[in-house]
Amino acid sequence: MKIAIIGTGNVAKSIGESVSKNNEVVYGSRNPEEAKQKIPGANITTIEEAAKSADMIVLAVPYLAAKEAIHEMKKAEEGKILIDVTNPLGKDSRWEKGFSESGAEEISKHAKGAKVVKAFNTIFAENMKSGQLGSNKLTTFIAGDDEDAKAKVMELARSMNMEPVDVGPLEKARYIEPAGLLLIELGYGKKLGTGIGINLVGAPQAPAQAEAQSPEQPQQ
Ligand SMILES: NC(=O)c1ccc[n+]([C@@H]2O[C@H](COP(=O)([O-])OP(=O)(O)OC[C@H]3O[C@@H](n4cnc5c(N)ncnc54)[C@H](OP(=O)(O)O)[C@@H]3O)[C@@H](O)[C@H]2O)c1
Repeated sequence: MKIAIIGTGNVAKSIGESVSKNNEVVYGSRNPEEAKQKIPGANITTIEEAAKSADMIVLAVPYLAAKEAIHEMKKAEEGKILIDVTNPLGKDSRWEKGFSESGAEEISKHAKGAKVVKAFNTIFAENMKSGQLGSNKLTTFIAGDDEDAKAKVMELARSMNMEPVDVGPLEKARYIEPAGLLLIELGYGKKLGTGIGINLVGAPQAPAQAEAQSPEQPQQ
């Protein structure tokens, strides 16, 4: 799969490093030449070209820059999976939303025709590379209206060593986004640092794993 990562910051680099093991990665930047110094050796182009050339797009820009970044895609996102990793922080780094709409739903209104899936926002960039802390896989909560798109993002998360949990339609991003803010508050506000994360205990195994270990299935 060819994956476009929009942005060249901390999250973009970590996701890029992880998914490039199994996929082709292209970064979309406002200033590709400058960004090449931030990620040496990476394939970096304009936001439009990156989105156009990819099968799947990861939006890894600040929440307040999301609308502009989508505009820069010039409709190349139409029909494609668009993973929204943003945490809806305002100018003063405070919570920008109420509970009657999520950032992801707002983004889907700008990216009309894209299959928007919320994912990865509750995992600190530093931990996205390995997908785990100690021996615990990190949980990534997934929301989206297109079941096939969501299944593909869950598969991508598993390939990144994370444990995806399907929360439901995109509207459920209203619950996932505050969890991202909780992590930020604990990591930075309470100074626990970024070596923390969420591991949902007691959840049934992901279908793919459950199937693989089902007694009806022949032993591998
Ligand atoms: N950091 C984390 O641990 C973490 C974890 C989960 C989710 N998130 C979310 O992921 C997103 C990216 O976070 P990040 O930590 O990677 O941020 P970052 O290091 O500041 O990088 C953001 C990137 O977005 C691009 N961008 C496009 N428009 C921009 C604008 N108007 N202002 C600034 N940058 C702009 C920039 O790339 P170009 O200059 O190349 O265009 C920049 O490198 C945010 O929405 C954040 O809430 C962050």
